[in-house]
Amino acid sequence: MSYKVRDRLKIIGGKKLKGEVKVQTSKNATLPIMSASLLAEGKVYLKDCPDIIDVQNMAKILKKLGANIVRTQDDYLIDSSNIKDVCLDYDLCKTMRSSIFLLGSTLAKFQSICLTMPGGCKIGKRPIDIHIEAFRRLNVKVTQLDDFVFFNASKARAGKIRLKLPSVGATENIVQFACKLKGKTIIYNSAREPEVVDLCNFLNKMGAKIYGAGTKKITIIGVEKLQGVEYKPISDRIVLGTLLVATAICGGTIRLIDKNINQNKKLIEILALMGCQINIKNDIITLSRDVPLKSVQKICTGYYPNFPTDLQSMLMVLNCVANGQTRIEEQVFENRFLIVGELKKMGAKIDIVNNHTAIVSGVRQLKAGKLKAYDLRGGASLVLAGLVAKGETIIENVHYIDRGYCHIENMLKSLGADIERI
Ligand code: EPZ
Repeated sequence: MSYKVRDRLKIIGGKKLKGEVKVQTSKNATLPIMSASLLAEGKVYLKDCPDIIDVQNMAKILKKLGANIVRTQDDYLIDSSNIKDVCLDYDLCKTMRSSIFLLGSTLAKFQSICLTMPGGCKIGKRPIDIHIEAFRRLNVKVTQLDDFVFFNASKARAGKIRLKLPSVGATENIVQFACKLKGKTIIYNSAREPEVVDLCNFLNKMGAKIYGAGTKKITIIGVEKLQGVEYKPISDRIVLGTLLVATAICGGTIRLIDKNINQNKKLIEILALMGCQINIKNDIITLSRDVPLKSVQKICTGYYPNFPTDLQSMLMVLNCVANGQTRIEEQVFENRFLIVGELKKMGAKIDIVNNHTAIVSGVRQLKAGKLKAYDLRGGASLVLAGLVAKGETIIENVHYIDRGYCHIENMLKSLGADIERI
C-alpha cells in the first residue's frame, strides 16, 4: 500500500515561544565523521546522531559500500573492516556525488573511486573543482569522461595544497585522504568551521596525526593504521541559531544548554542589536524579546568565523518584520535568495539587487499563506515566517527541512508554537 509521506506543516502564527529544548547533534559534523569511519580498522561507535534524512542516506551509502551498520536509537555502530573492494556501478557513483564528503575516505580505502559530475542543488552549482585541484596536487590521477569523474590514487604522495577558497568539503576530503598517506601533507587556506575541527578531533582520537584544525593551515602526518573509537559529534550550531531566531521573531524566552554557544558569536551580536536581551553564563544561553525589533543595517555572510551562510535566510525573515531596512550580502553561495518569492506572497518587502545582494524593508505584519520550501535552510526560514504571520500557514516540501532538522515541528511545539505535520 503506497501512502503519501506527510510532507506539509500547518502553522497558526502569533504565539510567543517559551521554554528549553535540547540542541540536536550537528548534521555537518556527523556526515564527514560517518564517512571517516570507513578508515578505521575496527568498529566505530557514533553516539546521539541526528535522526535526519541526510544521516539516514549516508548510512545507506556506507551499507552499499559494504559496511556493517547497526543503528540503536540515535547511535550507529559502523564496522567497515570487512570491506575489500567496491563495485562502482552507475547508481553508486550517482549516490556518491550526493555525498561528496565520502570522496576522501573511499579514495584512501579503495585507491580508486568514481563520481558522477555534480548536479548542483537549489542553492548553487556546488562544483568540485577545488576538490579535484587539491587531489591533483597530491598526484591523484583525476580524469573526466562525460559526466563521470574518475580518481586514481595509486601514485599519490603527500604534498602542499593551497585552496583557492576555504571550502569545507574540500578541506574535509583532503584531511580524510591524507591521514594514511605516507609523509606530511599541508593544506593552506583550509576551512575553519567547527565541523572541520570536530572531524579532525575524531580522526586524531582514531590515531591520526592532524595539527592546526580550526586555523588556516592544517598539517597531516600520515599513519599506518586508524583504530575504531566511540565518539559523539558536536551539537548543531545552525539548529541552535534557528531556535534563537525563532524566539526573536515570535517574542518570548528561550533557554538553551550548549557547550558551543561561542560558535554563534556573530548571530548573537546581531540579535542583541535588533532588541533581544541575551544572557550567557557558562554553557547556558537565555534569549528574550519583548520590545519591537530594530532592523540591522547590514548582514554579510562569509566563511567561518564570519556570519554563516546557513543562517542568512533566517535573518532575512527576521528583518522582514523589523523596523527599518537591511542590506543582505550573501557572499558564499550564488543562489541563496530562493525564499524571497514565498516571503513576498506574505507581504514582505524585499528587493533583489543581484544574486548576492538583497534589500529588506521591514513591514508591520506578514500575511499567512500557502508556501513551498525549495531548500533546507530556506524551508526552515519559512517555518519562522509562519510562526509570526497571523493566521494559518501551510508549508509544502517539508522533506527539504527534514534533511537537517529532527522533527522540526516537535522542537517548536515544545516551546509553545501551534504547529503540526499534516
Ligand atoms: C558545507 O558545504 C556545508 N554542508 C553547507 O551546509 C555550508 O553552507 C557550506 O559548507 C559553507 O559553510 C556540509 O557540511 C554537509 P563549501 P560545502 O565547499 O562543503 C564553492 C547546510 O544547509 N566551491 O565550503 O559544499 C561553493 O560553490 C549546507 O547544512 C567551489 O567553487 O561548501 C560555494 O560557493 C548547505 N568549488 C563555496 O565554495 C568547489 O570545489 C563554499 O562551498 C567547492 C566549493
